[in-house]
Amino acid sequence: MKIAVVGPGAMGCLLAAFLSKVKEQIWLVDYNKERATKITQSGISLEGVSGNWQAKVRATVELKEIAQADLVILAVKAYDTKEAVKNIKPLIGPQTQVLTLQNGIGNVEIISESIGPDNVIAGVTNLGATLLGDGNIRHAGKGETVIGRLDGKTPVEMRRIREIFDRAGLEIKFSRDIKGLLWSKLIINVGINALTVLTRLPNGKLPEFEGSSRILRQAVTEAVKVAKRKRIKLIYDDPLAKVEAVCEATSSNISSMLQDALRHRRTEIDFINGVIVRQAQELGISVPVNSLLVDLIKTIEASYKFNVK
Ligand code: PAF
Repeated sequence: MKIAVVGPGAMGCLLAAFLSKVKEQIWLVDYNKERATKITQSGISLEGVSGNWQAKVRATVELKEIAQADLVILAVKAYDTKEAVKNIKPLIGPQTQVLTLQNGIGNVEIISESIGPDNVIAGVTNLGATLLGDGNIRHAGKGETVIGRLDGKTPVEMRRIREIFDRAGLEIKFSRDIKGLLWSKLIINVGINALTVLTRLPNGKLPEFEGSSRILRQAVTEAVKVAKRKRIKLIYDDPLAKVEAVCEATSSNISSMLQDALRHRRTEIDFINGVIVRQAQELGISVPVNSLLVDLIKTIEASYKFNVK
């Protein structure tokens, strides 16, 4: 199987490194030629929960080198999905499966619009990864990946993906209700990500302080209210307990949004708390805590250059 992982960030590098353990053709798609050359020459270096190791991965900006892939895994930021899907057209053939493991809501729709819904697989992952430098990552948390299709079917292509992930040592499960699954992950990100940026805390510390714990609970409660009104079935019974459990399971993790803010990059706020605000507006529900979080993160994003040292 030829697999192209698109996006050389923390998650893209982690997935490419693990998948390189199986005897399949693994490519990492980058947009930066210099970095791609460096990764191809030196490999991906990992430290953290899976130990210190090096993975040999071919990285390229030249999609002609890869040609059509059997599986494309999208690991770019949600705000780059549209552009990425346009750029990776040379990788997509009639049989190519496109798997998105990105944060937030909206990626499946953008990919489906471009390549049609039949070969799109959506998923969420609880793997934690921190980018330390180009091709250099900390594997910050083990965790399962759950994938599914919009039609709820589990065709042979999905079973093949599961077999490869299994062989690579990545736990993977199937879900028949992808909407419920994506919203279940969304609610975790709603509770954790923006708050870590505002407090500069690793995930595990959020429930330990009275103020951050209260805001986390309020943001999650609002998001659950929106999900309920949309009749979305979450995959866990107690969302607050689940978000706190994820904080604990990924306690030393620097959330992806905090990693973005520390690098003065754009964040995925529009695809996380922003989704709750927009959906709540449509439903006529008030979500003041999520609105505040969106406004604060957008202010932080827009004002990096004015930061006081
Ligand atoms: O975005 C992230 O960082 C992750 O989805 C999560 C689960 C919050 C862990 O850090």
